[in-house]
Amino acid sequence: MAVVRVKMLAGNWKMNKLNSDLEPFFSAFMQSAGLVSSADLAGRLDLLFAVPATLLARAVEICRPLGIRVAAQNVHWEASGAYTGETSLPMLRELGVSAALIGHSERRQYFAESDTSVASKTTACLRDGVLPLVCVGETLDERQKGMTAEVITRQVLSILAAVGTLPKDLVIAYEPVWAIGTGMTATAAQAQEVHALIRSLVAAQLGIPVAAGLRILYGGSANPINIAELLQQNDIDGALVGGVSLKPEEFAKMVRSAL
Ligand code: PGA
Repeated sequence: MAVVRVKMLAGNWKMNKLNSDLEPFFSAFMQSAGLVSSADLAGRLDLLFAVPATLLARAVEICRPLGIRVAAQNVHWEASGAYTGETSLPMLRELGVSAALIGHSERRQYFAESDTSVASKTTACLRDGVLPLVCVGETLDERQKGMTAEVITRQVLSILAAVGTLPKDLVIAYEPVWAIGTGMTATAAQAQEVHALIRSLVAAQLGIPVAAGLRILYGGSANPINIAELLQQNDIDGALVGGVSLKPEEFAKMVRSAL
């Protein structure tokens, strides 16, 4: 029997919004999306918001009854210790945070995250039962040099090599760096090609059942207009959405399209 992968739409708020924005945002969002409670979503669509650290506690209080997951935008792989400015998984779990973005290209670009730190953070999440949404993607220069498959393969294999015998409950987000925040979306065909590559790498490393159940999200200027075509692709199981996820009515249009 074919595996059914429940679609996921994940908002990435990056370094935006205040606690005072949360209630107005979610009430406008739920209303525009035509959602009353989690029952409207169950088994049809997973919704998640990756919010700044200062918003996590309140966001969990608001989102939990709505059936929406809250994710951190970064984690440290150690449970505690002398790591000034970092946040650990036990700290996140204490707040009810059940997912985390790992290795977003802005973290790789501005905060020197490497394949090694991304792998450590991913395995720490898997060990602790926090869902990692691990981001991979090539730069414009790499794409123009024809290195997309090579870069994606390197990034994905370094994650998979670290997973070992840990639970395989992860999500991979393909985010071409040149498409993030630029309005330049990868075409559905370009995205599908990379998603299929990622699934084949997972099949080879972790086995076909894991690959068949793995959700691979597309990210990079996803919007209410292009989402339908993206979601029609065989290997695109949802989207990681930056700019549009800050606007409740616009993000709600994407939800309606996905439902
Ligand atoms: P964007 O951002 O949708 O604004 O391009 C996507 C992301 O960075 O996750």
